[in-house]
Amino acid sequence: MDRLIDKAAEDIAAARSVTALTGAGVSIESGIPPFRGKGGLWEKIDPMEYAHIDAFRRDPEKVWQVLIKSMADVLGSARPNDAHFGLVRLEKMGKLKTVITQNVDGLHQAAGNTDVIEFHGSFARQCCTDCGKQCQSSEVNMDAIPPRCQCGGIYRPDCVFFGEMIPPDALLRSRAAAASCDVMLVMGTSAMVQPAAHMPVLARENGARIIEINPESTPLTGSVSDCFIPGSGGRIMNAILARLERLCGPVHE
Ligand code: APR
Repeated sequence: MDRLIDKAAEDIAAARSVTALTGAGVSIESGIPPFRGKGGLWEKIDPMEYAHIDAFRRDPEKVWQVLIKSMADVLGSARPNDAHFGLVRLEKMGKLKTVITQNVDGLHQAAGNTDVIEFHGSFARQCCTDCGKQCQSSEVNMDAIPPRCQCGGIYRPDCVFFGEMIPPDALLRSRAAAASCDVMLVMGTSAMVQPAAHMPVLARENGARIIEINPESTPLTGSVSDCFIPGSGGRIMNAILARLERLCGPVHE
């Protein structure tokens, strides 16, 4: 394990530009359950019945009641953890340029990263399905479900449901960030959902080293990833940063 941490720190020290790709695993230590695996949300509810755009169109009240409202409650009280703060320290060292996240919880921005691409959108914003008006989720009155805009239309979170396209700007910027980095840090994602899982492939095709941090192996492990470090995001980031600070000097807060 020490050798893996040393090698990852050396690769990052030598890199001019690091891009991170994150998934639900980085927010588990913030109290937000993941989607897959033990205790995952999709173990309790069927994503095709609650997280597909057709399901929302068919019965928005049901999707609001079962999925959106409970997610909004959990996300509302979550705070960043050491996995998020580790990425902020990497940015302050001048190494990390961009975080591509599949998470809709806003915790990378709350921790302090400045260039965060929300690949699957955000729960922090709502959009009226009739008039298109956008607003902050905190401004939406959720006493009545589904919440409605002044025009009478139903609000939806500004996130990507299954069956929807990735916002083109997020996809283009992510592809550019993947293609231009010399290290990609892939942390806390099962790499089961496309096109997010393609970003490490694109990075590798363009010469980047792929460092993967996850307690479990994924489809990237041993093929796309050059280095797989088993463990939780917070603990491994702390270990890498401790080594990195010895190589590059301390981070100035
Ligand atoms: N630190 C880092 N990773 C962890 C931790 C931890 N403490 N605990 C678990 N993990 C890993 C799991 O091993 C798993 O590989 O986090 C990953 C979580 O996987 P998913 O729940 O599938 O999350 P994600 O990859 O982000 O899912 C992608 O699927 O349903 C959609 O839109 C949803 O954005 C989501 C997408």
